[in-house]
Amino acid sequence: MASQPETDTPTSPVSREQDHEPAAGLDRDLAALLEVERFEPPAEFREQALLNDPSIYEQAARDPQAWWAEQAEQLHWFRKWDQVLDDSNPPFYKWFIGGTLNASYNCLDRHVEAGLAGRVAYHWYGEEGEQRDITYGELLAEVKCFASALKDLGVRKGDVVGIYLPMIPEVIVAMLACARIGAPHNVVFGGFSAEAVRERMEFSEAKVLITVDGAARKGKTASVKDRVDEVMGDLATLQHIVVVRSKGTACQMKQGRDVYYDEIIAAADPECPAEELDAEHPLYILYTSGSTAKPKGILHTTGGYMAGVSATHRYVFDLKPNSDVYWCAADVGWVTGHSYIVYGPLANGATSVMWEGAPDYPHKGIWWELIERNRVSILYCAPTAIRACIKWGAEYPNKHDLSSLRLLGTVGEPINPKAWLWYHKVIGGERCPIVDTWWQTETGCIMITPLPGITATKPGSATRPFPGVEAEVRAESSGEPIEQGQGLLVLTRPWPSMLRTLYKEDERFIAAYYERFGRETYLVGDAARKDKDGYFWVIGRIDDVVNVSGHRLSTAEVESAIVAHPDVAEAAVIGQHDEDTGQAIVAFVTLQGDLQGDDAAVEGIRESVAERIGKFARPKRIIWTDDLPKTRSGKIMRRLLRDIAEGRELGDVTTLRDPEVTSKLQERIKELQAQEA
Ligand code: WTA
Repeated sequence: MASQPETDTPTSPVSREQDHEPAAGLDRDLAALLEVERFEPPAEFREQALLNDPSIYEQAARDPQAWWAEQAEQLHWFRKWDQVLDDSNPPFYKWFIGGTLNASYNCLDRHVEAGLAGRVAYHWYGEEGEQRDITYGELLAEVKCFASALKDLGVRKGDVVGIYLPMIPEVIVAMLACARIGAPHNVVFGGFSAEAVRERMEFSEAKVLITVDGAARKGKTASVKDRVDEVMGDLATLQHIVVVRSKGTACQMKQGRDVYYDEIIAAADPECPAEELDAEHPLYILYTSGSTAKPKGILHTTGGYMAGVSATHRYVFDLKPNSDVYWCAADVGWVTGHSYIVYGPLANGATSVMWEGAPDYPHKGIWWELIERNRVSILYCAPTAIRACIKWGAEYPNKHDLSSLRLLGTVGEPINPKAWLWYHKVIGGERCPIVDTWWQTETGCIMITPLPGITATKPGSATRPFPGVEAEVRAESSGEPIEQGQGLLVLTRPWPSMLRTLYKEDERFIAAYYERFGRETYLVGDAARKDKDGYFWVIGRIDDVVNVSGHRLSTAEVESAIVAHPDVAEAAVIGQHDEDTGQAIVAFVTLQGDLQGDDAAVEGIRESVAERIGKFARPKRIIWTDDLPKTRSGKIMRRLLRDIAEGRELGDVTTLRDPEVTSKLQERIKELQAQEA
């Protein structure tokens, strides 16, 4: 079976699969699937696809700048660029130099001017059955009003605006209103805690924060504004808080600082022309996790980002805006939401579904119900969600007519063959190609992916770089390119939607991505394998970043939240393979003095993490220990902890300060596993 990864790395897709039994009824199919090895695009799909001629790859590779310029031509420019790429000062690349445009104009005005004001941009659904269809015309009108209102609050071009909102239509309005006046937005995922919001507002010196009274989650309403107030009080740079009245939750309003969204909109000028912005004008900052506890402020600019997201959205999803109904079931607070709920789909004039809630509320079939109701034709989600659906059972999707689907996508983590097969059969009815898209907050748009009308897919592989993108696998030791085998993933050519820097941290930007292989080779931070057909299999992170249910987290960030608890002396956090969430957070914790690791201590630590980062970052397991495995110089050996947690052979531990520590921990893990079983 050539398609099977040759590696025995525990995180590789197929070796994962061997860790557990395939779901009942799927095991024979799974064996058959791995025999098939490749899935060619169905003939009918290929015939009608926007791209179906494989020579596109060679064409783009011959002249990548011309290819990207062709993509940028699809956008509306107030002034066209003089030069496609300025690569005179790597890694500080610039794209479409001299060009001016506006992202909100590209997402809204130009469609309205083309007569599409009545086209639905979003079919929005609330948790309790609320429904709103928002057309391009309505969205434009509201964006103009809110952009005027932001100006009235004193927001000027270049000022950073924070956004902390749930999946309600106002989050889209807020982002586009910022883009309209050239105020870079800094969106914080609604699952982050208020403290995490404060930190991000502080780092980015945000002038205004847009938030909400309360947010719905599985039938409950959590107050948001009041939580924000508790931590935000003394932040000098923050001049205003705008509050969207969404759930009617009572909240304190501070005079002179806080205003209601609906009130400032009602008072604002309904006209607000889109600013003509330089192609390199910052569009947004999005904080993401790196190797240290301080999150990285990824900075994206306007022209290149818009060219990248619109082109990939069009071709990877084979988007036919007149007939498709598209649904990206991510949260706008992550990059997937920025690029493939907001900017990509709107730039392409798509009609999308937007869902406020969780996949299992009010019932476990809600996704499939929404697909049937809206005749969704393209679905894009994370493998974690698919694994949850497998657990709940095929009876939920089977109750609904999913025949409108013609293309499926995944993002965020490697997909294991079992989940791929289930997605293919149960959801896709064996007729929909699956695009497994690899990319990052940093890359802005999809980088490695099948083109659904061209590329034969192999379950678990993101296949090939998108046209114009060049990727390699490099040997860890020599740095030489590896034609077939495993190593470090790098991108060897600049691309338009690449991050421009880390906000106000140019040195850190270079150190994180452009030191290891020089200033022209982007170090991704993932390990990958390249197979005999040149297909890429992304295995997982090489740094201390973990991926829990597609949420990117830094172990250092979680450690610092744990040691902030007064009872904790020391902590080390690792990501452990998890059947449901991809990876799970495991914390090894030493308490102060004679304190006992009991249930109350577990709760206290989990609460500390929830408060400082967010509930989604709480450790799944806490393992008490008197000591941690350390080198003689006192460095914690996290690699050993990972081996211990995964039950791997440890090899030589004699260089440790106290080799006994590891065997004690191995015993603890065995006890815990026995208890959990
Ligand atoms: C991982 C999410 C395997 C990878 C868009 C990357 C993937 C990190 C895939 C970025 C995929 C994303 N297959 N792994 N298709 N897509 N990843 O910044 O480790 O939240 O570096 O962006 O997710 O996470 P981020």
